[in-house]
Amino acid sequence: MIVEIDKALSEALPLLKEPQNVRRIVISGRQRNQNPPFIRIDIRPVLLKAGLNWQEVSHDGKKDFTKNLPLNSLDLRGYLDDGFANLIVENHETELTLRVTKSGQAQLNMKKVNTKATQFVELAHDRSKQRLLLESDPIFTHLGISDLDGKLKPSKTDKFKQVQEFLKNIDYVIEQLYSKTEARKSIKVVDLGCGHAYLTFAAFRYLELKDFNVEVLGVDERVDSRNRNSEIANALGISDKVKFAAQKISDLSLDQVDIAIALHACDTATDDAIAWAVKSGAKAILVAPCCQHDIQRQISQAPKPWAIATRYGILQERIGDIITETVRAQTLRFLGYRTDIIEFIAGDHTPKNLMIRAIKQKDPKINVVQDSSKPDAGMAELELLIEQWQVKPKLLNLLHEELQQLR
Ligand SMILES: C[S@@+](CC[C@H](N)C(=O)[O-])C[C@H]1O[C@@H](n2cnc3c(N)ncnc32)[C@H](O)[C@@H]1O
Repeated sequence: MIVEIDKALSEALPLLKEPQNVRRIVISGRQRNQNPPFIRIDIRPVLLKAGLNWQEVSHDGKKDFTKNLPLNSLDLRGYLDDGFANLIVENHETELTLRVTKSGQAQLNMKKVNTKATQFVELAHDRSKQRLLLESDPIFTHLGISDLDGKLKPSKTDKFKQVQEFLKNIDYVIEQLYSKTEARKSIKVVDLGCGHAYLTFAAFRYLELKDFNVEVLGVDERVDSRNRNSEIANALGISDKVKFAAQKISDLSLDQVDIAIALHACDTATDDAIAWAVKSGAKAILVAPCCQHDIQRQISQAPKPWAIATRYGILQERIGDIITETVRAQTLRFLGYRTDIIEFIAGDHTPKNLMIRAIKQKDPKINVVQDSSKPDAGMAELELLIEQWQVKPKLLNLLHEELQQLR
């Protein structure tokens, strides 16, 4: 229905009466001959220490600008006066859409919404519940995780959660590597086996919002991945900062990087990723391994008494996984990385949910413990493990020289 703008806005007021029930306010588009200051503005309620506020995130196509506004200062008319053409206000029951017409009136639509889908309003500011990147961020729309209105597509919920979990680990890493007070610097990230580049773009955006001067390289052997991802970087206007290469990880030239990531790079591609990162002097390495067939296939004779377990295919597989990740983690420790194995959220395409998180220590010799009576005994215990299981882990081969230098 076509009505006066003020009349249309008055219909929005009841929806805003209980801000905690507001799911989203989206302001976008531009009126004829107008030039609004941003491409889009997203507003949602957020609970701060001081109480409930509106959080306004303005996107200019490159950067997000976040402001918290007192509840009584929301001025919807002001946004339209700035030249924006479209407004969506949605609470747990109703969605109002308003479009300014060429004649300066408002095309108004109101519809009931599915309560189930909109019940959730994320108010908490605490770390555990916080989304590190909003679903309405343009990268998620371009990646097909959110729709054109910036709403998370139900079919992409798992991927979205996985990205958020990964970002929490990026956040952990930068807190370890950089002090809060020091001026933010340039940071280089490489995503090895990047696939559709969900993490590549998310890592870029997240670090950019943290005021880093970020450069990201996504590497995948598939040419179609490179082409698709480069198109997205172009469309987002960030192709100078987010680049893609179609190459095997093992063929990629070494380059100084700060953070190397690899999520579910298949089988021994994870070993290639770890080896590349170590040789490139990465300060932090985050890898969530995928299938671990290499060692599984090599287990032919289990040391006593493990044959009673490996007679069962599924247990042999799990033991193969444990040996693989133990070798990777212990090798990184030996090479001077403080290394954790943590639980990472399972993806929709794989039940694998481990992550190796390694942060380079100042003194690489710190982990070289020669006393084999200690459980953390450098390479001695690892060599025993390999001898007992008679396996040849690819990573040890790839990092042979680096390991020799430390002996
Ligand atoms: C399971 S997908 C994961 C993609 C992405 N990291 C994610 O989690 O969304 C694995 C990707 O690694 C790529 N890949 C596998 N082995 C590779 C190798 N040796 N070098 C480069 N890319 C590789 C595949 O082409 C595929 O796109």
